[in-house]
Amino acid sequence: MIPRYISNFDLTDIPRLYTDFLIIGTGIAGLYTALKACDGGKVTILTKRRLEDSNTDLAQGGIAAAIGTEDTPRLHLSDTLEAGAGLCDLPAVEVLVNEGPDCVMELVEIGTRFDRVEGHLALTREGAHRQRRILHARGDATGEEIRRALSDQVTRHPEIDVHEDIYLIDLLTEGNACYGALAWDLARQQKVAYLARSTVISTGGAGHLYLNTTNPGVATGDGIAAGFRAGARLADLEFIQFHPTALYHEDNPKFLVSEAVRGEGAILRNRLGERFMERYHPMADLAPRDVVARAIVDELRQTGEPCVFLDTKKLPVPFQERFPTIYQHCLQVGIDPSRDWIPVAPAAHYIMGGVRTDADGQTNLTNLFACGEAACTGVHGANRLASNSLLEGLVFGKRIATRMKKKRDDVSLRELHRFSSRSRGLGEPSGSLTQQAVQWRQRLQTIMWQDVGILRDGQGLSRAKETIRGLVEGSLGYELGGGSRLGDGQPDHPR
Ligand code: SIN
Repeated sequence: MIPRYISNFDLTDIPRLYTDFLIIGTGIAGLYTALKACDGGKVTILTKRRLEDSNTDLAQGGIAAAIGTEDTPRLHLSDTLEAGAGLCDLPAVEVLVNEGPDCVMELVEIGTRFDRVEGHLALTREGAHRQRRILHARGDATGEEIRRALSDQVTRHPEIDVHEDIYLIDLLTEGNACYGALAWDLARQQKVAYLARSTVISTGGAGHLYLNTTNPGVATGDGIAAGFRAGARLADLEFIQFHPTALYHEDNPKFLVSEAVRGEGAILRNRLGERFMERYHPMADLAPRDVVARAIVDELRQTGEPCVFLDTKKLPVPFQERFPTIYQHCLQVGIDPSRDWIPVAPAAHYIMGGVRTDADGQTNLTNLFACGEAACTGVHGANRLASNSLLEGLVFGKRIATRMKKKRDDVSLRELHRFSSRSRGLGEPSGSLTQQAVQWRQRLQTIMWQDVGILRDGQGLSRAKETIRGLVEGSLGYELGGGSRLGDGQPDHPR
């Protein structure tokens, strides 16, 4: 059996910190939830590196919201449902598209400087959007600008503390209730317990399960795994989004070449120079992301080449003006996008599944919420519509903050003290799991890339399952027999 905790601990032996709202992760979901919650109590945010290390900071294309004169939430809903391949949760998508525009305007109010044309917010398109509805900043530095605006507010607020270099080890639970998290303080090299009335998992995605990913090194699925060990329901984990156009280069993580580049008119070409997307979907280069990624794999199989190319010659604005970050990065690796085709190939980008929540971010565990990429609200279905992820972090972060403030006094300080004075957990002796994980990491990433990647079949999935079972049982001696919780359960589709 997999132990409930991955590390031994006795809370009476380690430093304990008390807070009202514990938020784990500093992407858009964590930062916005913190700002919205801090008028209702003390907020503590944990991040395993620096505040700016997150997928949010790397987001290029933008954030989607139905604010254009030709656009409506209804049209945004319809594009989201279609991209999601029939598996979106309709009420959750309604929440997203209806509440999204106000949240984006709040970002503007707190000082996010989105790009403008003649004073109006500039809007672009990305795959599967039938309208121009993507706001962007400094061309292709949207995430960095949103993070800057949010972190300026967060770091100045007296009721919010940010703790950097703190690794989540496990959620602390008793029965069906969560009372905070056990963490590892990298600077002090010791465990620390954060006791909280409410806890939010906003730890982001899990791109580093794969050999090739656009995600930063911090995206290792920690929050989803901790939720799983604590008994939180997970859903839709099989739905991994592969971004079609990561820069084809030896670097890893792979540098993203935003879908907005195609939104502005770039086209995909194969090795023979043929424009191929028209053969795969009526929306051609702006087809949904999963369709484009599969089409590229198909082309690569036919031509035997490792990459296809983005031809940016037809852009209405010079490439370097509209996409300065991508331009500079390409130059660094010897490609001049104003002259050369950009070599691209798919890479793991986003996980649609995660810790299952209701429309207020509440998980099945009392006092535990999940938000952003680590959560599964159901808005993305089987394939997320481009630029809906930053929006999801805002909309559901705001809802979580409202719910946490309302129920703040459901957990008394006395209850937290009582929990922390008794709680101990039996897990692995400290360090042994970490050592195993380092050894497994590349093997696991290779298996996932080869057998649980863009194209899958029963044979590959069974092979991956058996190999992973072998890794776990061989290294740790866990019995993962027929009824285990690793890989043998039925997928959880609450719809
Ligand atoms: C991109 O800029 O292509 C990424 C946008 C997203 O993942 O939503």
